[in-house]
Formats: sequence, C-alpha cells, structure tokens
Amino acid sequence: MTLKKPFFGGNWKMNHGPSATRGFLTEFLGQYQPHDDRTVVFFPPAISLAAFKVASAERSDLLTGVQDVYWESSGAFTGSISAGMAKDAGAGFALAGHSERRHVFGDADEDVSRKVAAIAGEGLVPVLCVGELLEERDRGEVEAVVTRQLAAGLSRLSSDQVEGMVIAYEPVWAIGTGRTASPEDANQAHELIRGLLTESVASARAIPIIYGGSVKPSNIEELLAAPEIDGVLVGGASLEASDFAEICSAGGV
Ligand code: PGA
Repeated sequence: MTLKKPFFGGNWKMNHGPSATRGFLTEFLGQYQPHDDRTVVFFPPAISLAAFKVASAERSDLLTGVQDVYWESSGAFTGSISAGMAKDAGAGFALAGHSERRHVFGDADEDVSRKVAAIAGEGLVPVLCVGELLEERDRGEVEAVVTRQLAAGLSRLSSDQVEGMVIAYEPVWAIGTGRTASPEDANQAHELIRGLLTESVASARAIPIIYGGSVKPSNIEELLAAPEIDGVLVGGASLEASDFAEICSAGGV
C-alpha cells in the first residue's frame, strides 16, 4: 500500500476518553471535509478507539491507529495490548518508539524494534518515531542518535515491510514545548533519514517521513513546504477540533 502524502497524524496521548472522543468528532466532522490527496490518521487512547470508530463511521477518510503495543500476541502482560488486538479493534496503524514511551516508560531500541516487527507482522503500518534529546543535539549527536534508532527500528523487517512504514522525526526538545524545529533543521534530519532508507530499500522516496514537535496551524504550511517533510505528527494541537481541522487542510495542491 502506498500512503498518500501529505500525511497528518493526530497523537492524542493520554487525552480524550470515549465521551470526549465523541464530542471532538461532532465538531471535527463539520470542520474538516474529506480530501482525497492526503492521509489523516488519529491515534486516540486505545480505550477510545471503539467510540472513535462508531462516531466516524460515515468518514472512511479518517483512519485510526494505536499509540503503542506490546510485541507478544497475548498472555500475562497486564496493562498491555497486542498489535493483533489493535487490528481486531479496527486500527490500521501503530506508533512505536514515541519519545514518551522511550523516556517516560523506558522503551529501549531493542523494545522498539520488537514492537515495530509485531506491528508490521500483523499487517498494520508501523509509525516509527525517532529523535534526539536537546543535550544530544547540543553535543552534535543528531546523526548518530537518529541513525541508531532508525537502524534498530528497521532491524527485524523485510524490505517490503520497510516500504510499508512511516517514519516520524520528533526532536524531543520540540515536543510539547512550543519550540518547533526550524523547517531547515527538520529537513536536514529528514534528508539523513531518507538517505538511510535509500540504503536499505529501493523505493525509499515513497515512505512518508513526517515531522513532530509543536506543530500548529501557524507553522504547518512552512513545515510542509520543506522538500523532505511529507507530513506531520501532531500532539497538543490535535486535541482541538478546529486547530486540527486547519492543520489537516494545509498543503497539497
Ligand atoms: P506536540 O507533540 O505536538 O504536543 O509537540 C508531538 C508528539 O509528541 O507527537
């Protein structure tokens, strides 16, 4: 499957339970009409996925994913969900390696690699998140960190599976801080990622490489204008229907 670009992801994190999800969609469906030249994917909390599906049943253009999975398919793993369960609940995508999973919950590169493999193994689209901490950027380690995280994330995938994924570059210092990477800085990291993907697969150009970190209506156009930025992963600004509708309507032809 080739995903249409631009790609817009709304990562709700631990916000919007089922009732708030229904309320959000009541507003959003009136403010964002289907566009056939783009991909829009919501990542609600898993517990709100069913409410999302019911409330958006008329809108096949709005796709869904989960924010995390555990790599085993079932068993004694309290609090976790598997990629197979996410698929059964109607998700088509799953994030892996989001910086909050890495830095709040301790997901290591090896964990992320197993999660990406489990997601792809179920036929869901993995959205692998990579990105450096501020101190790593200050030490000039952007390339080393992104290269390491990307290599680990791809290490268990076939080239067909790599061609079916999405990569999100999310510099940790730009997430939820109001501090956006400049389009030039983001584009440079995206170029690096594109180059690394080109070394592993034939059609690296088709893989969406999206940017995340304080994306909002006021900066979406300049980010999408950068040649290597194929879309965005939005946290805070995806929680407000009007903001996210504006973001998802940007770019394109
Ligand atoms: P933010 O989060 O848009 O609130 O900075 C982005 C993300 O974590 O995906």
